[in-house]
Amino acid sequence: MKLTHKELVKRNKTFTMTSWTAQKDWDPISMVRSEGVYFWDADDKQYLDWSSQLLNVNIGHGHPHVIKAIQEAVAKMGHAYPGIATEARAQLGELLREITPTEISKSFFTVGGADAVENAMKVARLYTGRQKIITRYRSYHGGTFGAMSAGGDPRRLPNEPGVPWIVRVHGPFPYRSPIYHGRTKDEGDKVAADLIEQTILFEGPQNIAAILLEGYSGSSGIMQGGDAFWKGIQEICDRHDILLIIDEVMSGFGRTGEWFGINHYPYVKPNILAIAKGLTSGYIPLGATLVTDEIAAYFEDNPLWAGLTYSSHPLACAAGIANIEVYKKENLIERAREMGKVLRSGLMDLAEQHPSIGEVRGTGLLQVIELVKNRETREPMSGWNLPASEPMRKVAAILREQGLSTFVKWDWIFCAPPLIINEKQIQDGLAMIDQALTAADEYCDA
Ligand SMILES: Cc1ncc(COP(=O)(O)O)c(C=O)c1O
Repeated sequence: MKLTHKELVKRNKTFTMTSWTAQKDWDPISMVRSEGVYFWDADDKQYLDWSSQLLNVNIGHGHPHVIKAIQEAVAKMGHAYPGIATEARAQLGELLREITPTEISKSFFTVGGADAVENAMKVARLYTGRQKIITRYRSYHGGTFGAMSAGGDPRRLPNEPGVPWIVRVHGPFPYRSPIYHGRTKDEGDKVAADLIEQTILFEGPQNIAAILLEGYSGSSGIMQGGDAFWKGIQEICDRHDILLIIDEVMSGFGRTGEWFGINHYPYVKPNILAIAKGLTSGYIPLGATLVTDEIAAYFEDNPLWAGLTYSSHPLACAAGIANIEVYKKENLIERAREMGKVLRSGLMDLAEQHPSIGEVRGTGLLQVIELVKNRETREPMSGWNLPASEPMRKVAAILREQGLSTFVKWDWIFCAPPLIINEKQIQDGLAMIDQALTAADEYCDA
């Protein structure tokens, strides 16, 4: 029996619950099939997937190479528990050693991003024997208890105080942070790093296991530091013998036009990496915590106090291998860089036409538009952590009505399509955003 969109949504709402919202407010798009950069709802309405689902379907929907790899893997074995050696697990580990920054050498597989971050923090604390982890207010690291505490996202607030060993700091946000008032971006970035060092000195460097940062800032609004910031962070880590954990869950696997967001800063030497999302493009859930040889050597003699029933799941590892093959064979990293330029230039054109655009931020196919009521005063269109204002609700409704699926949150429209997107599809998406911005402009001060 084929259900209509309305019937399908009703059944979902009757029998299941969803994330991060009062359930009665959940008004989902439905999906019955997907291919490339598109998916279709139960009434056969087509959507352009402008956010790669949750910024994870990097290789696009329905890739035959990955589907075949998963089918062949499940025919061989449904599951192998994490203590068992498999070909897929070894091969994926080897491929990851090749593509991650040179110092990273060994993987511990998880089920997704949050547990990759949880285990990264565990590893840092076990290895150093120190307690505290420094993180940014403007960050998101996952929805489990420790990862949620590590992030600064306000969704953590109802569960506060969270884990006690997280110390949050302010970071780079030139558009709004007072750190940048009267300063150039470089000067502000340097002050941002200096302030982090000040916090570390107050907290006792001897108590700090690691600084945890997203390789490229993502769902918190793409607020990224430049060279002055990252050089400062590396120096702080070196000076105080503190580990650097880089969370590449969102910014990894080509999203920013590099294999990993941190590759934009080649002098940064992460000690631990957390990955997920684009590792399998969501075809099967998988994440990983990766470490350097030095950290791996410590765990030769000391137990790794970490475990998950589905760690190194053979189907997920097969999906990971097939994804990496697709990234390489189809040159998707370079493609993201090139298509990112097309997207960026289209967004900058929109910024010239629409007074409601305050700033466009990002790189590659990880971009966000921040909407304002007034460009001079930068008065937000809706406001951070406030219920969506009328103009932002209108923007979201117009995008959805036209068939563009993406995240509209607070003052932001996220633009992060699959890396396989072509120029024509980018122009189609931009045309739909153009319409929504025309409505938003009505709310700008004259
Ligand atoms: C930077 C970052 N880290 C961690 C996570 C958590 O990943 P997951 O939702 O797979 O647990 C996310 C999810 O969006 C993320 O963006």
